[in-house]
Amino acid sequence: MTQPTAPILALKAVSHSYPEPSRGMLEVLKDAHLEIRAGERVAILGPSGSGKSTLLSIMAGLQRPTQGEVLWSGESLSRLPESALSRLRPEKIALVFQQFLLIPHLTALENASLPLELRGVARHEARTTARAQLEELGLGARLDHFPRMLSGGECQRVAIARAMVARPELLLADEPTGNLDPTTATQIFELLLSLPKIQGRSACALVLVTHNEELAARCDRRIRLADRHLTEERG
Ligand SMILES: Nc1ncnc2c1ncn2[C@@H]1O[C@H](COP(=O)(O)OP(=O)(O)OP(=O)(O)O)[C@@H](O)[C@H]1O
Ligand SMILES: [Mg+2]
Repeated sequence: MTQPTAPILALKAVSHSYPEPSRGMLEVLKDAHLEIRAGERVAILGPSGSGKSTLLSIMAGLQRPTQGEVLWSGESLSRLPESALSRLRPEKIALVFQQFLLIPHLTALENASLPLELRGVARHEARTTARAQLEELGLGARLDHFPRMLSGGECQRVAIARAMVARPELLLADEPTGNLDPTTATQIFELLLSLPKIQGRSACALVLVTHNEELAARCDRRIRLADRHLTEERG
């Protein structure tokens, strides 16, 4: 049952291992506990290969952990079949990646409206919502541009618009500024930090993986992943 006070996302004693052809199992996460609440902006830091992307994909229900439980608003994902998870995910979680992952033959507007159209929202309505979202992110003059005609920062803003258009409760961003120059990276970071606040979206939380300590320091919480363990930095 969904509890009104439950965190948007909780990990309870989550461990994850990958099978390794020669050495048995590679344990990436061990006994991880984490709660994310509405409006929180959480940075995940950790060395390359420490398991940050794995952690995000477990949060998003894209991978099931080998042990432990993932809960969305108090509901355990282990009890949900894959079909129910796929139905629930778009309302709950959106993802943004380093590589933008825009569809090359679709315009900015078509890319951003896609999640709504895939959910059966009428095309006109989906595009109206997507247009408003793109305008809000400063892309009003780029609606009909294809990704190849956009700068890296613009592509990432389209990807963020596409992520936000379905009003997810949680935005997961995996090194979203990794492919951008420092100035553009800072702008995109500022934009991401502002998302939980804009348009009265007080229920939105942000979890972002970054290697940039300075930017991470601007988040409400900082969590380090190293040697399979999550450690929250205080202060
Ligand atoms: N599907 C998979 N099968 C086997 N091993 C995997 C798989 N995915 C990831 N790994 C391994 O798990 C470890 C953690 O990978 P992950 O991609 O989560 O790290 P990361 O912290 O995101 O790294 P980076 O900062 O380089 O993106 C790595 O050693 C990686 O090789
Ligand atoms: Mg990664």
